[in-house]
Amino acid sequence: MNIERIIQEVYQKIKGVDNKGKIATYIPELSKADPNKFGVHISTISQMNFGVGNYKDKFSIQSMAKVLSLSLAYRILGDKLWERVGVEPSGTAFNSLVQLEADKGIPRNPFLNAGAIVISDILLTHLENPKNDFLDFVQSLSYNSGISYSNRIAQSEKKVGYRNVALCNFIKSFDRIENEPTDVLDFYYDLCSLEMNCKELSELFLFLANNGNEIHSNKSILSESQSKRINALMQTCGFYDESGEFTFKVGLPGKSGVGGGIIAIHPDKYAIAVWSPKLNKKGNSYRGMKFLEEFTTRSELSIF
Ligand code: DON
Repeated sequence: MNIERIIQEVYQKIKGVDNKGKIATYIPELSKADPNKFGVHISTISQMNFGVGNYKDKFSIQSMAKVLSLSLAYRILGDKLWERVGVEPSGTAFNSLVQLEADKGIPRNPFLNAGAIVISDILLTHLENPKNDFLDFVQSLSYNSGISYSNRIAQSEKKVGYRNVALCNFIKSFDRIENEPTDVLDFYYDLCSLEMNCKELSELFLFLANNGNEIHSNKSILSESQSKRINALMQTCGFYDESGEFTFKVGLPGKSGVGGGIIAIHPDKYAIAVWSPKLNKKGNSYRGMKFLEEFTTRSELSIF
């Protein structure tokens, strides 16, 4: 099978069909993205790399960073982590507040904003210099010192982050945030502001297709069991209230971001990143989902 040819053909097909949806505007700086950008890059365990379209253009990775902050927190705390955050799909939008009252400040999963805010709090407690240490972790995973935060995006989100302020304070009211909410949120906005291109994303996330081991050095980032569990969470919770649909149509663990990116993992085989800024009604990249559905259908490279 020629994966490169399948990617080329599926890319051309999806590019030619339609480009529905809307760019995220609730973070003012995100609304400046070019709606016509469309990039794809795959990195395989057998060290094949291939990209099409705008795969070298950097964009705001937003919620995809939640997988990286979760990985670092899991590395530090081990299974004690699950005392602070659940592992159940929520069936709600990424920024929902509704379940927190009944669940007494324990977010359903680490990919909801509520869950990622708790993970940020954990990292703030355990890292000496959270902003630098987290970036070091990301850069070392990717062998790429060119990856950085965007102060422009972080500040833009901070100005309008009313729901995140509400979430963080609400969780704090249950005594489940250890640090000052403003510090937790500043760190959360920073990590969501990371900018990468599809090539950097697929290379970086390949450790989750490689049993938690960094691909070049084989250095262990997470244990095999931890890596399996993060993939399981991406499968069940990575697309919020569209996680079932993504599993049904694409059949891979993955994670989206409101910048229009999606990363998907095939354990033991590959990581693939897709970027197209227009989002469907559930806040996931419209063309990104369509591309991955067609790609896994044609290549028969899904986990089911
Ligand atoms: O907190 C927020 O709303 C954003 N920083 C991240 C949201 C996001 O990417 C949701 N994913 N699709």
